[in-house]
Amino acid sequence: MNVGIDSISLCVPESFYPLTDLAEKHGIDPNKYLYGLGQEKMSVPSPDEDIVTLAAGAANPILTDDVRASISTVILATESGIDQSKSAGLFVHGLLGIKSNCRVIEFKQACYGATAALQMATDMVRQRPDEKILIIASDIARYEQDSLGECTQGAGALAMVISANPRLLNLHHAHGTHSFDVMDFWRPNGHKAAQVDGHLSIEVYLESMRQAWSNYKDNGGHQLSELPWLCFHQPFTKMSKKAFTALKESEPQQGAELTDLSYEHSLLYGRQIGNTYTASLYIGLLSLLENNPQDLTEQNIGLFSYGSGSVGEFFSAQVVPGYRQHLRVKEHQEMLSNRQALSHEKYTSWFYQSLADHENQVMPKFSNREFRLEKVDGFRRVYGVNT
Ligand code: CAA
Repeated sequence: MNVGIDSISLCVPESFYPLTDLAEKHGIDPNKYLYGLGQEKMSVPSPDEDIVTLAAGAANPILTDDVRASISTVILATESGIDQSKSAGLFVHGLLGIKSNCRVIEFKQACYGATAALQMATDMVRQRPDEKILIIASDIARYEQDSLGECTQGAGALAMVISANPRLLNLHHAHGTHSFDVMDFWRPNGHKAAQVDGHLSIEVYLESMRQAWSNYKDNGGHQLSELPWLCFHQPFTKMSKKAFTALKESEPQQGAELTDLSYEHSLLYGRQIGNTYTASLYIGLLSLLENNPQDLTEQNIGLFSYGSGSVGEFFSAQVVPGYRQHLRVKEHQEMLSNRQALSHEKYTSWFYQSLADHENQVMPKFSNREFRLEKVDGFRRVYGVNT
């Protein structure tokens, strides 16, 4: 039985901040951001948007009545959680009217969480093929203002329904994992911004990928020559090039065949959005499926997921015939192109001074997306549907 990704949907905030403007503020050559890191825009959430509103906005369009009725589990993966106890998924479950005979949980392991969710969901559906699992990866990537990481910030959510006989991608059984305890990126309790040892994090990412790739092959995975398309976790899109180069170097004979074309289409959305932590790999996958002009039917895609701290996983999937009919290309491209650019002042006030941290706060209306944070009442977050 084939099991995998049946539908995918993206939601990003309505605003962005151009990295050329950030470079000007920092007094550096904009080409460092545009080409050195491969980023053009950073998605910026408004004060009444958070990982819940983005997650609900991503999932809602793919929840037809039939799908809603079959969802047995909702897994929300994030590393920018809004509560230490309650799963953010429960707010989303309520907003989307998913039935109460359903388990709802939150997964955390830095940017890797959604991949753990995907592997678990796939195994659950293999055991009980009538069930569907809703996975939502939702994050706001925030570093200290004026730090080296600031230019890689971003925000967004990606929802996927996992099912038997999926319409987009069949997941292969083989996967390779690699975990070890390292402090390359972390966010202590009570801190809004991540701490990072940036250059170490790049080295650790690449080593994790080499080890996960080796484990994938040991576990019966495909040869590199059988994976014409590749997609890597993208904290910034240039990281994919570094990962691709390292993968080719680890397979000198087979790697010679591969060109930058194998991953280039996976960068187009991330370049316009910035890092979205748990969602980043899957936004890359969506970008590859939606922007590659070639028909990818029955072709294999190799994927590498990385979460600092750290866990890496290499896995692969095959594209299902007819996949193009089930993508939401027009909606996603309009959502990205209809965003508004923010001034530096508005970007910094929205990104760094959250009104939602107060005990009581009625949130002014900024967002026109379907769902918004309406108020905080005695630290209880109250969400609503935009009218
Ligand atoms: N024109 C073109 N390119 C330029 C340039 C210019 N004027 N100036 C610099 N560059 C290039 C540099 O040559 C370099 O390219 P290479 O890496 O290919 O050599 C690139 O721009 C970056 O330059 P620096 O290394 O000098 O950049 P930096 O010291 O400012 O730090 C960073 C970059 C470490 C990525 C920093 O932005 C950071 O800490 N980011 C957050 C952490 C991160 O994203 N880590 C990634 C791995 S961890 C992970 O994946 C998990 C996660 O999601 C966080």
